[in-house]
Amino acid sequence: MRIVVFGSTGATGRQVVAQALAAGHEVTAFLREPAKAPPARDGLRVAVGQVTSDQAAVTAAVSGADAVVSTLGTERTWQGLSSPTVMARATPLIVRAMEETGVGRLVWLSGLGVGDTLAQVPALPRLSYRALRRVYADKAAGEQTLRRSTLDWTLVYPVMLTNRARTGRYRHGEYLELSGLPTVSRADVADFILGRVASGDYLRKIAVIAG
Ligand SMILES: NC(=O)c1ccc[n+]([C@@H]2O[C@H](COP(=O)([O-])OP(=O)(O)OC[C@H]3O[C@@H](n4cnc5c(N)ncnc54)[C@H](OP(=O)(O)O)[C@@H]3O)[C@@H](O)[C@H]2O)c1
Repeated sequence: MRIVVFGSTGATGRQVVAQALAAGHEVTAFLREPAKAPPARDGLRVAVGQVTSDQAAVTAAVSGADAVVSTLGTERTWQGLSSPTVMARATPLIVRAMEETGVGRLVWLSGLGVGDTLAQVPALPRLSYRALRRVYADKAAGEQTLRRSTLDWTLVYPVMLTNRARTGRYRHGEYLELSGLPTVSRADVADFILGRVASGDYLRKIAVIAG
């Protein structure tokens, strides 16, 4: 498949790109800083642009793809002083690009605790959510745009991410019984995302994932 990855330079995005290439997919890694591009290899194309403002670059990258993945994260800002807006700004551009070019499939990485999924967060991790509230408000704003679109989206809500190895052993569902301080590795989240791209399940549904 031809897959475009936004957030391709991030910790999870790099896993998605590497696993997708290893599986034989053709990958377009969209990024804003050319110096962060992954090493050239067969099947990899790099597209440079601002996902938050450059509609032409986003549309050109998406055109001809079979699916789009976003592992975008948030600007590193001091949360108490400023509000992140990357999701609210990027989502309309990606949705417009996909709708205009007829690319339907979108798998979007969010975080457990955004929107209605807050109800699934166990008591312990919930303690840190006050500090994340602006980040999560931005994610929720972006996700409203996705939900209103005509796209075949899947919203992926992982618990706390780690850099542990890919195991292929994780739980997922629209609702998970969680307790304590659950974690899942970024490599397993990438595995799950690419599985959804290939299978086309969880269409216009959420998927919570925990290790
Ligand atoms: N940490 C956790 O425990 C946890 C738990 C659940 C969900 N999540 C969510 O999972 C997602 C992936 O996490 P991660 O740790 O892999 O993220 P990450 O390593 O911080 O990567 C973030 C990616 O987003 C890009 N990005 C950030 N701000 C941008 C902007 N203004 N314009 C364009 N690109 C921008 C970065 O590009 P540059 O390289 O150019 O900066 C990078 O590719 C995030 O949405 C995160 O909130 C995290």
